[in-house]
Amino acid sequence: MTAELTFTATRSDAPLPDADREAVLADPGFGSTFTDHMALATWTKGEGWHDGQVRAFGPLQLSPAAAVLHYAQEVFEGMKAYRHEDGSVWTFRPDRNAARMARSCERLALPVLPEEDFVGAIRALVQADEPWVPAYGTGETSLYLRPFMFASEAFLGVRPANEVTFSVIASPAGAYFSGGLKPVNLWVSQDYARAGEGGTGAAKCGGNYASSLAGQLEGQAQGCDQAVFLDSSTHTYIEELGGMNLFFVTKDGRLRTPALTGSILEGVTRDSILELAPDLGLTPEESRIEIDWWKEGVASGEITEVFACGTAAVVTPVGELRWAGGSAPSTGGEGGGEMTRTIRQSLLDIQYGVAEDTRGWMTRL
Ligand code: COI
Repeated sequence: MTAELTFTATRSDAPLPDADREAVLADPGFGSTFTDHMALATWTKGEGWHDGQVRAFGPLQLSPAAAVLHYAQEVFEGMKAYRHEDGSVWTFRPDRNAARMARSCERLALPVLPEEDFVGAIRALVQADEPWVPAYGTGETSLYLRPFMFASEAFLGVRPANEVTFSVIASPAGAYFSGGLKPVNLWVSQDYARAGEGGTGAAKCGGNYASSLAGQLEGQAQGCDQAVFLDSSTHTYIEELGGMNLFFVTKDGRLRTPALTGSILEGVTRDSILELAPDLGLTPEESRIEIDWWKEGVASGEITEVFACGTAAVVTPVGELRWAGGSAPSTGGEGGGEMTRTIRQSLLDIQYGVAEDTRGWMTRL
């Protein structure tokens, strides 16, 4: 596919003053502050994609009848822009995010945005908001990028929308979890599933995240940080957390993660870790993993480390597992196990240009 769009930039006439931006960048947190601009494009049936633009960040005008508000026809992506030591700005495997968004769009009956336009929108936004990309060497900070697409047509009949909006917003980001590398404790959600067979679990759509929230609340009520969801038909196999994939390091050197069954999100970080594993002396394994294997595997010594991963969370150590009537102890120490930290650092080194990008994963913006 070739690019259909040009993202014409109009500068915000009220950008955040430099000193205020610097104050945000010094302690960005996650997802609460936004840059000066946003990218936008519209798709209409019969016309295709048009009106690509970058303009001041601000509220969108949306009819209360917009289909997304009623039927959740929406998809999104999560990416990051990283500052390298020479000041240049890069992103990680954007082709993967573009391809996944295309698959999500097909599942949600939304129009596909060509990869060139997807990357073009990100590049145009990051160029407009370049001062918002945190400086090199300021820890795990980056500019989080959130491309998303939704049914903006005002129509209450249930059918794919004839007018769709695509946008990218950006938000300076530090660690997703406020505790940094402190292991997160997980609750096994028994009553709630995140997604089911034939559903939208493999698509990155808002509905999957909405359906994870009740389980997460239940977990929090049990003193946990996140919930781990099981397969919806047998409640036996591990799937993923609300917004992160899971990995297990075993004492015989395997790196296990649940196989993609159609109800698990194919994480770009997940895929990258599977590819890096052999370089780190681990044998990657994608398979069905029973929750009972985890419940028993820590105490028996078979599981040596557990971690969660995603664009936002990077690699986050997992601590205790709790369920109704029991718990399994934490594996790593306070900052996670040794292999968890090695995997995390290998990934960050590529993303920040510290290690050579031998796989061609980085794209300059
Ligand atoms: C990401 O990791 O980018 C996501 O979209 C997941 C969400 C928990 C922030």
